[in-house]
Amino acid sequence: MKSTYQVLSPGDIRSAREHDEFASDLLFGLSQPVKQISSKYLYDDTGSHLFCRIMELPEYYPTRCETEILLRHGPAIVESVGDARLNLVEMGAGDGTKTRILINQLRGQHVDFRYVPIDISESAVSELCTELVQECPEVAVKGLVSDYFVGVDWLSHQNAARNLILFLGSNIGNFDPTRQVHFLTDLWNALNHGDYVLIGMDLKKDPEIINRAYNDRQGVTAAFNKNLLHRINRDLGGDFDPDQFVYYSAWDPFAGAVKSCLLSKASQSVYIDELCRSFDFALWEPIHTESSYKFSVADVHKKARHIGFEVVENFFDAKHYFVDSLWQVVKE
Ligand code: TRP
Repeated sequence: MKSTYQVLSPGDIRSAREHDEFASDLLFGLSQPVKQISSKYLYDDTGSHLFCRIMELPEYYPTRCETEILLRHGPAIVESVGDARLNLVEMGAGDGTKTRILINQLRGQHVDFRYVPIDISESAVSELCTELVQECPEVAVKGLVSDYFVGVDWLSHQNAARNLILFLGSNIGNFDPTRQVHFLTDLWNALNHGDYVLIGMDLKKDPEIINRAYNDRQGVTAAFNKNLLHRINRDLGGDFDPDQFVYYSAWDPFAGAVKSCLLSKASQSVYIDELCRSFDFALWEPIHTESSYKFSVADVHKKARHIGFEVVENFFDAKHYFVDSLWQVVKE
């Protein structure tokens, strides 16, 4: 008999593990008393493409506000950080548009810096590095494929350069308050005394403005959320009928967050092949997809001080819808 063998590459094993993780996270989420699907699964290829469209919507103000902040206050931000050697560290790659504004500012002010994007996705890191080197060949780029804090910790022990960590886009607001504290504590711990963090936070404002941003008229945000169901059908053999669910999102003033979900328009049962089981949905039962916490300026100060950061300066857009807050690590 002819013998055969199979060789699995690290890439094969990685994608099998990602697949299993999606399945087990989904099993956990749909078995909760309040059903949920982790928001990290919103961003497959289709989801990332839809999110790019969200960022361009007239109603979705956060991206435009933060871009305005970086354009307006870029020189002041660079000035505050000083002219010592700098690692410009980006957590969560994104498409790097906002970072490019700061990179150009640093180049203009002749700061000696290198750009360090950190992400667990190797493809995200290498794409960013390739693009940046093509656009700005004279900028030193060192991409790290790693968990954020392992990467930052490694970097802080590498050389004497100051770190400036960018955590933009109000990504912190997608963590619940307990996780926000964990995340910021881990970051503080990985950094050296005197290092900087520039953190983007969406500010509390008239609920009408917030609600409009999460309920756009073209329905792009609805499609972005419903894509989760298409993804489950495709990747895990689900039989969700996306038309039997409706996207719903509203500001909750008590939680200080926008709560987004998919509501079941019928009493229905959905089978997921990969999980070998079905899940029952009651009429109008929600599946939570994302919470987007918003902050007051007082919240920003309280949060920073509580963890051990000093607020150096807050940079606002003209309407004060959003803040990029510059924090410095204080260690005794
Ligand atoms: N996480 C982003 C935010 O909170 C992306 C987003 C925009 C989003 N609209 C959404 C996530 C609707 C879930 C539902 O702003």
